[in-house]
Amino acid sequence: MSDKAVDLYAGSQKRNFMGHPIGLPICFLTEMWERFSYYGMRALLILYLTKYHLFSSGKASMIYGAFVGLVYMLPIIGGYLSDRYLGNRKAVTFGAILLVLGHGLMAYHGSAAYMEEGVVVRDEFALNIFFLALALIITGVGFLKANITTVVGALYGPNDPRRDSGFTIFYMGLNLGAFISMLIVGYVGETYGWNYGFSIAGIGMFFGLLVFLWGQKLLDGHAEPRNPEILKEIAFAGINKETAIYLGGIGMVMISWMMMQYQELVGMLLGVSGFVMIGIILLYGFIKCTKIERERLMVVCFLIVVQAVFWALFEQQGASLTLLADQQFDKNLFGWQVKASQVQTMNTLFVVILAPLMAWVWVALSKRNMEPSTPVKFGTSLMIIGLGYIIFSWGMGLDDGNSKNFLWLAFIYFSLSLAELFLSPVGLSIVTKMSVTKIVGMVMGTWFLFMAVGNYLAGWISAIAGGAAHGNTTAELDMTATMDVYTMVGMFSMGVGVFIFLMTPFLKKECMA
Ligand code: PHE
Repeated sequence: MSDKAVDLYAGSQKRNFMGHPIGLPICFLTEMWERFSYYGMRALLILYLTKYHLFSSGKASMIYGAFVGLVYMLPIIGGYLSDRYLGNRKAVTFGAILLVLGHGLMAYHGSAAYMEEGVVVRDEFALNIFFLALALIITGVGFLKANITTVVGALYGPNDPRRDSGFTIFYMGLNLGAFISMLIVGYVGETYGWNYGFSIAGIGMFFGLLVFLWGQKLLDGHAEPRNPEILKEIAFAGINKETAIYLGGIGMVMISWMMMQYQELVGMLLGVSGFVMIGIILLYGFIKCTKIERERLMVVCFLIVVQAVFWALFEQQGASLTLLADQQFDKNLFGWQVKASQVQTMNTLFVVILAPLMAWVWVALSKRNMEPSTPVKFGTSLMIIGLGYIIFSWGMGLDDGNSKNFLWLAFIYFSLSLAELFLSPVGLSIVTKMSVTKIVGMVMGTWFLFMAVGNYLAGWISAIAGGAAHGNTTAELDMTATMDVYTMVGMFSMGVGVFIFLMTPFLKKECMA
């Protein structure tokens, strides 16, 4: 081995498995099972709320939005606690335990709601348990998702050429978990009972926990707390800091439990904290950074804010798109009756097929010096998804009644998956590349926060698409409203895309540097 080769792998994990650090299969399997449980339950969520607890499409969408919003808000706190105190291994373990409890509780669904003299009567106790289950899942994802991703990064030294392919393998793994789960959990949940579906999601997460508990020794110390001594220090009342953090985690469950029941509050919290964080980052840029660092931070902040538009359209999957699939489309595929929840698998399928292709395209283009800059990719993503919704809305208008052509669903899922690959992986990489090292964790947290804003807005858009603004109190979507809203958000997204293109000359210089 030449000296150069030795240098490239400096800092990487020593033990390998099939050409990658041996920790990779552990992260792969843990995140595969975590996403198995998350997407499995998400596939059923809106249908369960509208069909079992008889919420209107509007109310169910708001609950969905608050849930997915909080899910992506908490990684900031989970990431911070892990950076400063716990280390990734302990944070992931704690998150996995909360997730097993949360998905386990989802299996309890009490009695179904029913109509009595025109009023819906719901099992309030069961609903409370349901919100607690969601709160456990929110906090669990908060401790697990960002941290397991960081572990993948930590397995490779700074110059390791295998890093990108490691992340691609990891991304394939989580999509594989989501794919299998939405097929099985969706089918079982819709056919045999919601609680059976949710239970399977829970069993999946249990496997995830077991894999990680068994496999953590194979991480060879790459996910340990930076300063384990701090954890043993007394925090208060004879309790050490490590235990105090876990108690804080339980506190986060309680707060999320409450927030889930006041969905508007979640929106306000997300909006306010989002802009406070942007303010802090910019302030840091102005006080502590050189000119070039500051300009880069400004570009990153711009990209962070605009990506919210993408997620608001993207996350219709678990909300209005699933209700549409259920109510409006002919789901007979070559004699096989597809379930509405299973339609969501198309995203994972397209990602698994397109991700390697896109990675290849970027490499090929960059060899010819033709790779588009990050802002151009973002703008393109918003154009693709926006145009996708406009065409989809038009296409739905072609068929009346409830047997619309399945191909339109395939089309919109294709568009949003392609748009995802222009934005999501690209965004994560630009955040790590262009932020000042000292605050990279905070900037990444803000990326997640605006993703959360977008997710929350997705619930809100879905509520309006259902006709909530016109007083629709049923689960049936009001198709005129749906088509109008899709066209409008599609145009808005394309407008933002054009705006990003126009801004590109100002942003590009920094992104190329
Ligand atoms: N499908 C991706 C996942 O579940 C979506 C996502 C990307 C979520 C980045 C969070 C961060 O991982």
